[in-house]
Amino acid sequence: MTEEKIPTIQIADASKYVGQTVKIGGWLRQKRGSGKIVFLQLRDGTAFFQGVVAKADVDPDVFERAKELKQESSLYVTGEIRKDDRSSFGYEMAVHDLQVIGESHDYPITPKEHGTEFLFDERHLYLRHLKPFATLKIRNTLIAATYEFFNDEGFIKMDAPILTGSAPEGTTELFETDYFGEPAYLSQTGQLYAEAGAMAFGKVFTFGPIFRAEKSKTRRHLTEFWMIEPEMAFMDQEQSLHLQERYIAYLIEKVLERNDQELDLLKRDKDRLKSYTKLPYPRISYDEAIELLQANDFDIKWGADFGSPEETFLANHFDQPVFVLNFPKAIKAFYMKRHPTRDDVVISADLLAPEGYGEIIGGSEREVDYEYLKEQIIKQGLSLDEYGWYLDLRKYGPVPHSGFGLGLERLVTFVTGEEHIREAIPFPRMTHRLRP
Ligand code: 4AD
Ligand code: MG
Repeated sequence: MTEEKIPTIQIADASKYVGQTVKIGGWLRQKRGSGKIVFLQLRDGTAFFQGVVAKADVDPDVFERAKELKQESSLYVTGEIRKDDRSSFGYEMAVHDLQVIGESHDYPITPKEHGTEFLFDERHLYLRHLKPFATLKIRNTLIAATYEFFNDEGFIKMDAPILTGSAPEGTTELFETDYFGEPAYLSQTGQLYAEAGAMAFGKVFTFGPIFRAEKSKTRRHLTEFWMIEPEMAFMDQEQSLHLQERYIAYLIEKVLERNDQELDLLKRDKDRLKSYTKLPYPRISYDEAIELLQANDFDIKWGADFGSPEETFLANHFDQPVFVLNFPKAIKAFYMKRHPTRDDVVISADLLAPEGYGEIIGGSEREVDYEYLKEQIIKQGLSLDEYGWYLDLRKYGPVPHSGFGLGLERLVTFVTGEEHIREAIPFPRMTHRLRP
């Protein structure tokens, strides 16, 4: 076969070329072999597989080049695709020719075990390895499926600004920056803008980066993360909860459909994941949750927010994602709707994921009464100047509306079964990490 007729393909498509000679551009992950044969572990960004270079079948210089290859050298390999039932991928290449594109020397992430801090110091390289690859492919499915779901449901994607003049989720968690001489803050939620959008387009969602300067050093907190914030006009909290559980079940189904190999790589229990697509999710009121916790020896009083042990207990108790409804007003944001008969709670819900992953969604119905909302803004020490535009939404044709925020990385961590949220984003930002 002449050079021009050899198709250049990607590893992921290898199954379509069994028995054919193809060319693939990729990188060398690892290599082993003897004097007669070299096994090249290759990757090209779409998948991982093996190239076999047999001394007897190739030119001597091709075999020499294969033997000399170093970890993460880039190369073209040309050869025949064949079935390989011993590997989980199922195919390999019998390499006939090999061209080095770029050399690599002393690649730092050697095949031995490395500590987590080291791997994250080398995150720009670590992205090439199996675990980040699988995790971030699943993240990509969750992003794509989010757009699909909301498009199908008639939502408009509406971007909220990242530079803002105000702090709707409380003043302690802000990154401040200088905006031509006046203070500005990196957005800690897109919600208020989403509410303006809902009054214009009916159903919208924002999906952007969120910044929180909280000094929480937990396995669930990032200082920069991505949030999906749907906001729906003419929807009450009950309708919003239905939408939320359908959305989560849809996302998990899409990952099960599209990321079988990645889930296997991460050793995620797929039957367990599948069980989280069963609806409806259980619901429990905040009051009941407190009673349940107290009955199980938690030292917690009505009015307190849940920490990680409480969230873990509650969701494990149901072995399903569980909605906790109607939190105390004192621990929630000013915009949440009053309870019709109680003064001490608001119409809100957090969705807690099982297996210790904690809160993945926070949401509520929104207060629409102008005077009441104005009072809440004043009570929480927020500036009426900053929120005048938001109050306008209650001045000109207010309607019942609800919304929620899903933390993308919390969800990725849960779906992939990772231990720590830093795995769920390409370049994590945490209290002690700003680089690379
Ligand atoms: O509960 P939160 O603070 O809700 C809001 O910001 C609302 N404005 C959302 C809305 O109603 N539109 O955050 C929502 C979600 C949490 O449930 C969690 O999944 C995630 O955002 N989250 C974080 N993820 C990673 N690191 C952090 N520091 C996070 N803080 C919140
Ligand atoms: Mg919350």
